[in-house]
Amino acid sequence: MSQSEGRNAAHVIVLGNEKGGSGKTTTAMHVIASLLHEGMCVGSIDLDSRQRSLTRYVENRKAWCEANGVKLAMPDHRVIDRSKAETVAEAQAEEQAAFDAAYRELSATCDFIVIDSPGTDNYLSRAGHSVADTLITPMNDSFVDFDLLGRVDPQTYQLKGPSLYSEMVWESRKRRAMKDGGQIDWVVMRNRLSHVDAKNKRRVEAVLETLTDRIGFRLAPGFGERVIFREMFPSGLTLLDLRDGGVDQQLSMSHVAARAEIRALFDMLELPIGEKAENGTPESVRAAAASG
Ligand SMILES: Nc1ncnc2c1ncn2[C@@H]1O[C@H](COP(=O)(O)OP(=O)(O)OP(=O)(O)O)[C@@H](O)[C@H]1O
Ligand SMILES: [Mg+2]
Repeated sequence: MSQSEGRNAAHVIVLGNEKGGSGKTTTAMHVIASLLHEGMCVGSIDLDSRQRSLTRYVENRKAWCEANGVKLAMPDHRVIDRSKAETVAEAQAEEQAAFDAAYRELSATCDFIVIDSPGTDNYLSRAGHSVADTLITPMNDSFVDFDLLGRVDPQTYQLKGPSLYSEMVWESRKRRAMKDGGQIDWVVMRNRLSHVDAKNKRRVEAVLETLTDRIGFRLAPGFGERVIFREMFPSGLTLLDLRDGGVDQQLSMSHVAARAEIRALFDMLELPIGEKAENGTPESVRAAAASG
């Protein structure tokens, strides 16, 4: 009997936004850490093979653990390279095959798969989006980022229509529905929220709220602009790993506030943690995934 028989397929969480630098990789790593701390078996896929930021994050984590003699849970990580085939059709077929193979393997052993996508629209990014159960879109708190979700009247801030990225999600939703009848739960979160610019913050929030029904997403509480979200990358650690998470380090007020933000996002996602725990991924499979 294969490992996937007798258990549900992994729940897939995709981080996506065509806007570069909006916080996809940072959020992906914190969602992965949150799931690992819940005792879940997590697979991760990096579709941004040019930057490989998520891949580096995971590599840094392994290296830090080895150097410091600390054992932390790890995701079973894969990176999908862009094809170098000469024709578009060949390149797409190659990329799809590589993606499908990683997806199949991780789906057979993991409770969750977290997919980090690049900040551009390409074939692999679309392949990732079309298997999403949950899609998280982090966006900076500005109308420049907002413009990829919806076009807004500059005078009244009324929505004039959906734009590029919303249309791409709409396509992914259709593809997903045709493939297996599944639905994509789309969650938009604001990132790098300023502690001072209250007027802009309220305005973006108000417009986003008017969009939730029309474009079809849920609005999640976001992450503040905090140095600690970027300073842990070289160690591969996340805020979840500190103190009770296995790494002996005191928490500052800012750490505590950031952890609360991560928890609020995680709770809002309403992931099927309980179901997966009952499902009971075999311990041996978890151990193999954790040792990478
Ligand atoms: N809440 C935050 N507070 C402070 N810095 C942040 C926060 N979120 C992300 N950053 C920083 O912003 C930069 C971009 O973040 P990240 O790499 O996660 O974005 P991305 O969407 O994955 O980018 P790309 O599209 O290039 O892949 C990084 O330097 C990251 O450390
Ligand atoms: Mg990234």
